[in-house]
Order: sequence, then C-alpha cells, then structure tokens
Amino acid sequence: MNVLVVGSGGREHALCWKLRQSPLCKRLFCAPGNPGTKLVADNVDIAADDIQGLLRFAIAENIDLTVVGPEAPLCAGIVDEFQKQKKLCFGPNKAAAEIEGSKAFARELCRRHRIPGPSFQVYEELGMARSFLDNRPDGPIVVKASGLAAGKGVTVCKNNDEARAAVTECLEKRRFGEAGGQVVFEEFLEGQEVSLITLTDGRTIVPFEPARDHKAVGDGDKGPNTGGMGVITPVAMLPRTTAQVESQIVFPTVHAMNRENRRYHGFLYAGLMLTTQGPRVLEYNCRLGDPETQPLLMRLQSDLLPLLLATAEGKLESQQPPVWDKRVAVCVVACSGGYPGDYKKGVPIFGVDRVQQGPDLQVFHAGTSQRLGGDLQTAGGRVLAVTALGADAAAARAKVYAALKQIEFAGMHFRTDIGAKA
Ligand code: AMP
Ligand code: GLY
Repeated sequence: MNVLVVGSGGREHALCWKLRQSPLCKRLFCAPGNPGTKLVADNVDIAADDIQGLLRFAIAENIDLTVVGPEAPLCAGIVDEFQKQKKLCFGPNKAAAEIEGSKAFARELCRRHRIPGPSFQVYEELGMARSFLDNRPDGPIVVKASGLAAGKGVTVCKNNDEARAAVTECLEKRRFGEAGGQVVFEEFLEGQEVSLITLTDGRTIVPFEPARDHKAVGDGDKGPNTGGMGVITPVAMLPRTTAQVESQIVFPTVHAMNRENRRYHGFLYAGLMLTTQGPRVLEYNCRLGDPETQPLLMRLQSDLLPLLLATAEGKLESQQPPVWDKRVAVCVVACSGGYPGDYKKGVPIFGVDRVQQGPDLQVFHAGTSQRLGGDLQTAGGRVLAVTALGADAAAARAKVYAALKQIEFAGMHFRTDIGAKA
C-alpha cells in the first residue's frame, strides 16, 4: 500500500515511524513532514491545510490511504473532499470533527445526551460574559475559547478577576482570532486527568490504553497551559473506573454522534477528569493527541496500518484488538525558550545524534528544521519529544532524562516531573 501521512509534528513522526514497520506499507509519504519523518518517509512539500494540493498528490501518486494527524485539515473537511474523489482518508469528516472544532458544540452534545461533564455557559457578547461573572460567587472557574487554539485557548482561573482578564483577551482583544468569538465558562473540576483515545468507525469501538498528559508548562503543573509537555502511559485505573469511562462517556459519545448524523470515523480523543463523583469530559479532540501518540505507538505491538485501513473502510469489526507492550512509556517534550509564549526559531540543536536510539528509545522530531548543510535547528515551540519504554515509570523516566542530557539548544526547557507521581 502507498500511504500519505499529513502533518509535521511529533505525532506525525511517530505515525510514520510506526507505519514504516508495517509489512503492508510500500511507499510512505509525509506532507509536509519534518527532519524526523524524513528518516522514515519521503517528505512532500505540501502544507497540511492545502487540501486540494494533498488530494492532487494522492491521486497522482496512487495513495491508498491518507492518514491525517492534525485537527485543522479535519475540521476544514479534508475527509469530505477526498471522499468526493473516492480517495480513502482516515479521520472524521467535517461534521464529526466539530466535536473538537467547537467546544460549544461538544458541551451541548454532552448536555443533550447526558454525557457527564462540568456545568457550563456559552457567551459571544462581551457585556453578557462580564455580567455572568459579576453575578456569580467568586471562586475558581475555567474560561475557554470555543474554537481551535492549539491547546492554548484554555485558562484555568483561580477567581473571577482572572476570568475577567481571560474574557477580555478572548472576546475583546481577539487573542485567538475567530476561535475566540465564543467563550465557554466551565465549572472547575478537580481530580486526576486521563487522555483516552479510541479508534472507531462509528460501530466498533476500540479504546486504546489510557495516557496522562501534562499540560502546564512548569513542574508541579505551574504556569500556563501548552499543547502538552509530556506523557506517561499506561495510567493505573480501577476496573470500575475504566468501565464507567467506557459506558458513561466513550460509547455514548460515539452513539450520540450517530444519532445526530455525524457518524464518527477515526481517533476520538476524550480528555477526562476522574473526579470523586466519577469521570467527566474536559474536552474532545478529533484526532490522536500530541504528545500522547509518541509513547502510545511505542507500546503498540500490533500493526497500525490494518487498523487504520479497516476504520476508514468502516470494517473495524474485522480486526483483532490491539496488543500492547506491558511496559511503561514516558515522553518528555523539549521546548524553545519562551514557549508557550513567543520564542525564537532557527536556534541550532546539538546532540540528537549522540542519543542511542532503538525500539525502546526514540527522539521524535516536532518543531525542527534542517539547514542547508543538514544541521538541525528549532522551528517551533515544542521541538523534540524524547520517548522511552521501561519496566516501570522510574526506568522509563531514567532513560528519557539521560537522553535529554545529551541534547542541547539555547533556551531549551522541559518538565522534570513527567510520570514522577506514577
Ligand atoms: P482542554 O484543552 O479543554 O482539555 O483544557 C486544557 C487543560 O485545562 C486540561 O487538560 C485541564 O488541565 C484544564 N481544564 C480544562 N477544563 C477544565 C475544567 N472544567 N476543570 C478543571 N480543569 C480544566
Ligand atoms: N496533548 C493534548 C492534545 O493533543 O490535544
């Protein structure tokens, strides 16, 4: 089979790395890819949001399956455009991707179908939003831009004053552009967070192993939220909790989408808070998580390609359930100085070649590019996702942090506590 992966982050490097191992995979392309995907696939210079360009390429190169990593092309309808030309594209169509594209839609979906989440309010008008805050007792609250904001549109506020500032950023200063045209206020939930990614064709539902992302930029969950600073998988969950998550959240969500004529094909990511009252949905994503994908795919022992193909064809029931490495995987993201705020690009990266990579240790590229002579430099906020397997969390952590010691670039920072509580 000829396969095209769309995207250029750490998630797409991990996807290419895993798909390259499939005996079914003949030619593998990545558009636009990065210096990491170039090691295992042919990079193609087409942007991830150039849907017509990608479609022309898929037709010209006889691509059998296109696998879309990021949310933006999914929310823009890449799957629908491919379907019109009878090209197979893995992921939800535009109507189904709205589960991520509009947090307001996702919240209302939960309300309509009694899927447990925080209580919430949606506002478009600044005066109304401010008056909501003026009339509530002071205390913690979460403010979210409704649209796509690369994981940065969420502000967890300690009090109403912080929430007022977040609303101003969103509705008045338009910090997130169109994505911040609506704000969602949510009840602040406390508990342990879990990312649960499920593969589904709308009928067969295959939950992957649970993972834990660390969204805040600093150790101890301090500082602003990012796209994700590091992940550990698996996460210990009581069998009762797993059953609740499946029966109260995952299955009802897939069925709710069917009932609303938005049949879901692809990866459905549920960001969950395990509260003392039971699991609650924090968010949905219409794709694999980044960096959740990196450690999950290192643990996945089954061939990924037939699972993706069967899902896109609506035949997931024909597949055996995935087999997972029992070991623990930890991923730590090395970021540019200043991220998640402003940061420089083009900073030379040293030492990646010093890391002894293998099936148990991988340095996935995220925001990197290559100079003319081949030297690596930074090209984004999240630069490298160092990922390792170990017998337990401590062993996996030791490998990751030893590898990170070999790597340096000016301004580099990463969390030192990923998976430390496990
Ligand atoms: P989201 O992108 O919606 O998952 O939000 C990003 C992060 O903000 C989550 O991973 C949580 O750490 C935090 N968060 C989001 N919603 C809530 C909530 N209702 N209560 C507490 N924390 C939240
Ligand atoms: N790591 C969180 C996300 O991919 O949205």
